[in-house]
This record gives sequence, C-alpha cells and structure tokens, in this order.
Amino acid sequence: MVAARITVNGKETPLAPAAPHTTVLDFLRERGLTGTKEGCAEGECGACSVLVARPGVDRPTDWVAVNACLVPAAALDGQEVITSEGLATPGAPGTPPVLHPVQEEMAVRGGSQCGYCTPGFVCSMAAEYYRPGRCAHADGHGENGADADAGTGTGTGAEHGPNGFDLHALSGNLCRCTGYRPIRDAAFAVGAPAGDDPLALRREQAPPQPAATAYTRDGSTFLRPATLAEALRLLRERPGAVVVAGSTDWGVEVNIRSRRADCVIAVDRLPELRGLHTTSDHIEIGAAQTLTEIERRLDGSVPLLADLFPQFASRLIRNSATLGGNLGTGSPIGDSPPVLLALEASVVLADADGEREVPLSAYFTGYRRSVRRPGELIRAVRIPLPLSPVTAFHKIAKRRFDDISSVAVAFALDVQDGIVRKARIGLGGVAATPVRALATEAALEGRPWTAETAEAAARVMRSEGTPMDDHRASAVYRSAMLGQSLLKLYAQTTEAVSS
Ligand code: FES
Ligand code: FES
Repeated sequence: MVAARITVNGKETPLAPAAPHTTVLDFLRERGLTGTKEGCAEGECGACSVLVARPGVDRPTDWVAVNACLVPAAALDGQEVITSEGLATPGAPGTPPVLHPVQEEMAVRGGSQCGYCTPGFVCSMAAEYYRPGRCAHADGHGENGADADAGTGTGTGAEHGPNGFDLHALSGNLCRCTGYRPIRDAAFAVGAPAGDDPLALRREQAPPQPAATAYTRDGSTFLRPATLAEALRLLRERPGAVVVAGSTDWGVEVNIRSRRADCVIAVDRLPELRGLHTTSDHIEIGAAQTLTEIERRLDGSVPLLADLFPQFASRLIRNSATLGGNLGTGSPIGDSPPVLLALEASVVLADADGEREVPLSAYFTGYRRSVRRPGELIRAVRIPLPLSPVTAFHKIAKRRFDDISSVAVAFALDVQDGIVRKARIGLGGVAATPVRALATEAALEGRPWTAETAEAAARVMRSEGTPMDDHRASAVYRSAMLGQSLLKLYAQTTEAVSS
C-alpha cells in the first residue's frame, strides 16, 4: 500500500507524522501553510476553508470548499487540496505572485481589513468562482466571454450577483471587520475563469480516486475501506469504531471535547453509499451523498428538501455533511429528520448479513438512540413517491443562516378540492427525538383547508411533543412556535391551493 499522502497546492505531502485524529487545518499549519486559520474549530466561522477536488456533479471534478478544522487529514489520503497560498500564481523571479481573481477583487474593494478571515473567504469564494453553471446564470457574462467587472449595482441586496455568484457560498464565513459589504462587492465582481486557468482546467480531468487507507500511529487507526462489504466486516470486527462521512459532527467532538477514537472508519466514498436514483415509487439517496450533491442532483424536484438545504448550517458544512450522518447521530435537533419524517422516508440499514428497511418514524428510540444495531450502517434513505404537493420547512433559530434550530417543523400536505386528504408533519427540537405531530395530522385530515381548521389544528399543535427550557429557547416559546408555524403555512399556501 502506498504511504498516505495529500497533494497540497500541487505538491505531494506525506501524512506522517500526523496522528490519525489530526485535522487538515493542523496538518497544513504544521507544514507552514499558516494562511489557513483557526477561528472556532467547530465549523462555524470558515477561517479554515480550503478547496478539495471532488467528483463533480456536472463535470468530472468540482472544487469544493470545506472546513479544514473538521476533516481528519487522513480522510484526504490521495486527494488534492488547494489553500489560499495555492490560489495565486507565482510571479517571475524577483516579482510578487499574481493574485487570483478572487484575491484581487477582495484586495481592491476593501474586502480584507484585519485579514484573519480573508484566506477562508477567498477559498469559499474560489469554490463558487469555479462552480459549473455559475456563469450561465450571469447577466451578460459567459464562461468564455467575460467582462470581469460586474460592479455592485444590480446585485445590491440580492443573494445572487449579476455574475451568477450565489452568496450562500459564503454563508459559513464570518468577518468581524468589514461589515460584509465590500466582501459582497468582491463576490459580485468576479468574472469567468480564464481559458488557461489551471484550476478551471483541472475540473475537466478525472477526480482523485478514493485511496484505501489504513493509517495507524500511536495506537490509533484511520481506515478507509474500498467496498461496503469490507466496511461491514470491519464494523463487525470493531464494534466500537467511530464511523464518519464528512466528519462535521465527529470533528467537533475531537476539537472541542477532546474525544479520541482507537479506530475511525470512513464511509463517505463507498460507491454503494453514493447512489441517487428514482424508481416509479421512490427516490433513493445514498447515505454518503453530501447535502450539496443531493441539492444539485435533485435540482428542486423534492421541494421540501429544496426548502431545507439553504437553512441547513452553511454551504461549507453542506459540502461535507450527509443525510446518513445527520440520521446516524440521532440528534433531536438535526434539521433533516423533520423533513424526512414529513416525506415518510425510510432508512435502509445494512450489515454483514444483509439489509433491512425501517420507516424513519420507527427509527429513533430515545435521545441519540435508534434501532440501528452495532455493526449496521445506514446505506440509503428512501423517499416514497408521489410527493404531497403542499410543503414547507420552518426553522426557528436565532440567526437566519448557519445556526442550530430551536424548533424545526416540516409539513407535507395533500389538499384536494379544498380538503386535507393527507397531512404529515415532522418536528425537531420539541422532544428527545425528532417526532411526527400525529395529533395535529389527525386534526387536519379530512377537514377543509380553512382558517378555522388551521386555527383549531394550531391549538392541537401547541401541545405536541415535550419541549424543554434550554439556552436556545423556553418550552413555552417552543410550543407557541409550533402553533405559529401551522398558521404561517396556512397563510403561505392558501393562495397556491385555491388557484
Ligand atoms: Fe472556524 Fe474551522 S476554524 S470553521
Ligand atoms: Fe477582520 Fe474579516 S477582515 S475578520
């Protein structure tokens, strides 16, 4: 087996002597690449953002920005990473490097003041700069044409710039100095990549293949099996192993709670967990598809998921986080379970003896507990078809983006001829597990979709779950928000239903 190594800014860099739990952030900084910064070490500030070459959705390879503070360096064995230092082009001897277009725009528009956040911003910005299709949505910009100065006028106040730049790409990056306006100006000013841009050209080549990794140091081991069968055999042999995909949860445990594992098994590149296909009666989503991949592949065809994604953490997190991970942690405040409950999804669990399918409504058994047995992996999530047409996801949190929900509510209603034929409502943050609002569903089904029905059902909904007081919200507030959520749905959907 080839010694573990990562290609950083085009240079092969051995993983050793890093420990298996060493993050990409520490790995880079210990090798002198100190442009990548640590702000929070838990995926909330983006100071550590770097670019990773991943299998593309529309092209062979995409440049994807991830939080280097959360990903173990061992997880990038055989992969390619670009840091802020690698974006600029070296100048001729005796001359300074030529800034990358996103660096140039940040500099000339005042997007960098103290500069601490800047390397992370430019990496997130570069990922969006190279996003396939961005320029197709630009006003007057073509991928091969390209006036680089989009200005700041027409995009003011919008989340998409006139150059096709989606500001959600920066939702995981915090800045304490600029007030964001100059950063947005820089984002909305970048043009299309030049024809000879090496990172743009890299997108047309095959992505790095996942390396079968077995990296042991100081008594702990990081394993990346090549197949699902091998992963399940390893899990049976090592029932105490920690299973990771994007490491967005485990990375926080390692950094903030100093947890360590004797063995970590990475499943995020297993081909059996990476499918996404539609049959006549369901959509099956591989458990290791990242949320960004799902969002781009489904392209709005499951409106409730399309509603969820922009509200799920940040783009940086969604570039690594998976549905399998969000369900695997069993958190009562994960954002995907309420949505998947409303969609009546089921979970496909695999172990060395075979597979079983469990409705998500029967999956959670207690606080961070589920029916998943030791040795079992979540292989896929299945969403039955057809979808109910009236859907909404309401996340009540202190910030609009990149926050943890106090309460999350997902609705999927089938309203025909003004009557609620079917209602499915998933709740998060109001019990020890994500739950269905069964009493509210019963209060809606068979009744006319009127203000009276909505108000009566909202009274029922305020009594759903067993909400608690904690630092995010009081129990009284949470209950009140449940009722308000249903009234908001009624207000939002009445026009659509009656038209
Ligand atoms: Fe804050 Fe990584 S250091 S997101
Ligand atoms: Fe200072 Fe962003 S420029 S934190």
